[in-house]
Amino acid sequence: MINEYTKELSSINAKNNIPKELIEMQTEYRENGVPTILTDGLNELLLMLSIKNPKTVLELGTATGCSGIAILKTLPNAKLTTVEKNHDIRLEAIENFKKFGVYDRVNSLIGDSLDVVMHLTTKFDFIFLDCNKAAYATLYPLLKDLLNEGGVIFADNILFRGYVSGEKQSPKEHRTLVKKIDDYNRLVSVDKDMITSFFDVGDGIAVSCKKIK
Ligand SMILES: C[S@@+](CC[C@H](N)C(=O)[O-])C[C@H]1O[C@@H](n2cnc3c(N)ncnc32)[C@H](O)[C@@H]1O
Repeated sequence: MINEYTKELSSINAKNNIPKELIEMQTEYRENGVPTILTDGLNELLLMLSIKNPKTVLELGTATGCSGIAILKTLPNAKLTTVEKNHDIRLEAIENFKKFGVYDRVNSLIGDSLDVVMHLTTKFDFIFLDCNKAAYATLYPLLKDLLNEGGVIFADNILFRGYVSGEKQSPKEHRTLVKKIDDYNRLVSVDKDMITSFFDVGDGIAVSCKKIK
């Protein structure tokens, strides 16, 4: 009940923060089966970005660019490096970045997140983890190394439809994935280098901040 209440208020607030044209574009994509972060999850992301005000953001999982556009519209001075493995979707994202006037601040990379991340040399203030969920735990140590002190890793889908928490019983075909997401959640929860909090927002979000030493 309380959850429905906070969800409703967050979604009212999201409409103030996410450009109308972007919500429309996102809704259209979702209706056509293209995955993008849920609106309340996106609002949480924009909140964290506004608090942190990062100059450099790494996004794993560009899709059609909806979250990337929202990130850059929220942070007028930030640069976004974004990784997508699907060639056609990446090209569509580039068109959308241009349409929303943010392409000059985008470094769009093609490839598997793990391969790309292994070759990145510059560090980031904020990482938005939204590619294949099964790889989150494998990516985690690499992402930690790529994160500046005080930097944030924002991971989406960490409850995956309620299957990870056991709120809903996971269908057989998702059990391996659910186990891998749970591995990520447990990995970050015991990591003494990070402060992590888990949010029952959207499809579940884990926000981890690298401690300043
Ligand atoms: C949930 S969607 C991203 C949504 C996007 N961040 C948004 O909110 O608008 C996940 C994307 O990650 C891409 N992807 C999946 N596995 C990947 C991998 N191993 N490396 C890079 N991209 C991957 C998919 O093709 C898909 O476009």
